[in-house]
Amino acid sequence: MPFPASRRVLAGVLLTLAVPAAGATASAPPSPAAVAPVASNGLAAKPPMGWNSWNHFAGRITAADVRDMADTMAANGMRDAGYIYVNIDDTWEGERNAAGDIEPNDKFGDMKALADYVHARGLKLGLYSSPGAKTCAGFAGSHGHEDQDAHRFAAWGVDYLKYDYCGARDLYPVTQRNQEMLFRKMGQALRQAGRPIVYSLSQSGDFDIWRWGPQTGANLWRTTPDIGDNWDSMLQRGLRQLDLGAWSGPGHWSDPDMLEIGNGGMSVDEYRTQMSLWSLLPAPLLAGNDLRTMDAATRDILLNREVIAVDQDPAGHPARRLERQGDVEVLVRDMADGSIVVGFFNRGEQASVRLPWEKLGPRFARTAGARDLWRHAEIDTKQPFQTSLPRHGATLLRVWGE
Ligand code: GLA
Repeated sequence: MPFPASRRVLAGVLLTLAVPAAGATASAPPSPAAVAPVASNGLAAKPPMGWNSWNHFAGRITAADVRDMADTMAANGMRDAGYIYVNIDDTWEGERNAAGDIEPNDKFGDMKALADYVHARGLKLGLYSSPGAKTCAGFAGSHGHEDQDAHRFAAWGVDYLKYDYCGARDLYPVTQRNQEMLFRKMGQALRQAGRPIVYSLSQSGDFDIWRWGPQTGANLWRTTPDIGDNWDSMLQRGLRQLDLGAWSGPGHWSDPDMLEIGNGGMSVDEYRTQMSLWSLLPAPLLAGNDLRTMDAATRDILLNREVIAVDQDPAGHPARRLERQGDVEVLVRDMADGSIVVGFFNRGEQASVRLPWEKLGPRFARTAGARDLWRHAEIDTKQPFQTSLPRHGATLLRVWGE
């Protein structure tokens, strides 16, 4: 006797549920547990400033180097100019002990003592981890130990965590949901750890992270692959941010990666361009050079207070393109006090630029003053601004309207 029609439908449904469609696998891909959005921690009202070990030291960083950096930053004016975070990147991690707590490796030893040392100099300590079982460099990651690690970091006195997706690629398919849940998990763990910790996400700008980064509880997120110490890499990362301005602001910043200033691969003009561009965007200012041996030109770039003030402007407005003059990008940004900062960035060989003040808007047809932020000099505003820029050079002007 044939099945009644209703039974046949039911059998069809059961069969469909039990037998995977051609090409599909029998089990669902692994995926992390769902985590609710994490509320803002209220930190990083201005783009974070400090130093990070990766660009210069990579895997060679030791606790002694970190102590040296803290001493140098406290003595050379960097701390007083706002470079507060001393951030240890990957390769500090050792094994987990019997209780599952992560221990620093032999290069670092006592992390609490190191944090105390850094704090005693009026600075803050940053650390690095990953949602993977391993970090990018193959050291122990936080997978399955997120709460335990967040509490341990807080107990050591850590003030900043860079959390790098990298190693989690081995655990889960690379999807936005997986990234979002893993980043939220650590975001939530940090909130519960009872210490203000700036939360910095590291991936390559996958899945438009700027759109969903805030819901992970993070304060900043990388928007590009790793920077290299060369002109093309630096310029491409900096200019990329211009399309993302709407997604960046106080408490939640787009991060075009760390500074390469002083690392040797670019000219002084090119490094001045990185400082100018990062400050105008505005972006986090994390120096990445060996601070102990930096030359006067590097120090002048990193310590230009007028340029730092642009980066740290409390309004946190994004930069935008005003125009292009041949090879020169002309970018502008509104400041909290009503002034405007203009940046000229020369992508080519030596170039002349000219700017009639009214191009900045009707308020600037008659200016109340203008400063050249690299020459530290007033500009005569009775004439249109005119200057010549070297190859790959930049300049910044701050202009007050009437
Ligand atoms: C990734 C990050 C870098 C650095 C390394 C460390 O490549 O993007 O900034 O943290 O991992 O392994």
